[in-house]
Amino acid sequence: VRQLLPDPLPEVDPVDAYAHPADPHASADPHARAGAHPDGAPTVRVGMVVSADGSATDEAGWTNGLGGPADLRVFRALRAWADAILVGATTVRTGRMGPHRPAADIQARRLADGRAPAAAVVVVSGSLRLDWSHRLFTEATTPTIVVTHAAAASTGDVPSGVPLVVAGDSGVDLAAAVRILGDGYGLTRLLCEGGPTLTTALFHAGLVDELCLSLAPTLLGGAHHTPLLGALPVPVGLRLHRVYEDDGVLFLRYRVR
Ligand SMILES: NC(=O)c1ccc[n+]([C@@H]2O[C@H](COP(=O)([O-])OP(=O)(O)OC[C@H]3O[C@@H](n4cnc5c(N)ncnc54)[C@H](OP(=O)(O)O)[C@@H]3O)[C@@H](O)[C@H]2O)c1
Repeated sequence: VRQLLPDPLPEVDPVDAYAHPADPHASADPHARAGAHPDGAPTVRVGMVVSADGSATDEAGWTNGLGGPADLRVFRALRAWADAILVGATTVRTGRMGPHRPAADIQARRLADGRAPAAAVVVVSGSLRLDWSHRLFTEATTPTIVVTHAAAASTGDVPSGVPLVVAGDSGVDLAAAVRILGDGYGLTRLLCEGGPTLTTALFHAGLVDELCLSLAPTLLGGAHHTPLLGALPVPVGLRLHRVYEDDGVLFLRYRVR
């Protein structure tokens, strides 16, 4: 991965490049302090890939066709940083998402930092219509957490071993959920991997600190074009603070104002 902005560097290690500044491996550059909250509240990053014409899915309706191996390297680096990976229930229902299984060197690095060897997946669901036999719930070494609201929790049938965060009465209060994940579970580095519905809700709630966007050198057009976001009440200003490139994929890091 080469860095294009702010200073051109022929090669950067993506894990270092995406490490949180609180991380001892991270840069001391104050411009790199994206989303560091002095009060200890969780940092929320969004990490998603889009085609050059802005589609969040490939022609098969998934993301594998976007970004290729270069995007996978950055995807893994973002996961290496994360304490928790937030995903919407629809993304989980595609059946293509599994527990975080980092490589041995990343696990060792996380353990040396006093963190769990793998990030917890956090599934946000307003309906609790989830397949509890999914490998996210049966095979994760760091237990998968479900976030929902009180009305769903009172009627839903969540297996006893699944940690449940209840935030909001009849709809998920994402700000409260983020606080509970931080205060109650010690998860202060939150990476949202989508999909668009959850990401839009996080932006809507003003909870996103940094947008890490991978821009794949592909034009999707056509029937499977999925916008990165749904409706926002007001435009959200972004400040570009890092740009990397690998194999034609642009990696844009924006601080959210
Ligand atoms: N380009 C990328 O990087 C990327 C990443 C991930 C996914 N994707 C693609 O995105 C598509 C799925 O995206 P999507 O937008 O349809 O769905 P999504 O955001 O993955 O999930 C939506 C569901 O999550 C729950 N949810 C999200 N926000 C909520 C909120 N504020 N309150 C309560 N529940 C909330 C709801 O679950 P309930 O239905 O249970 O109420 C909602 O129906 C898939 O095709 C996937 O391939 C792309």
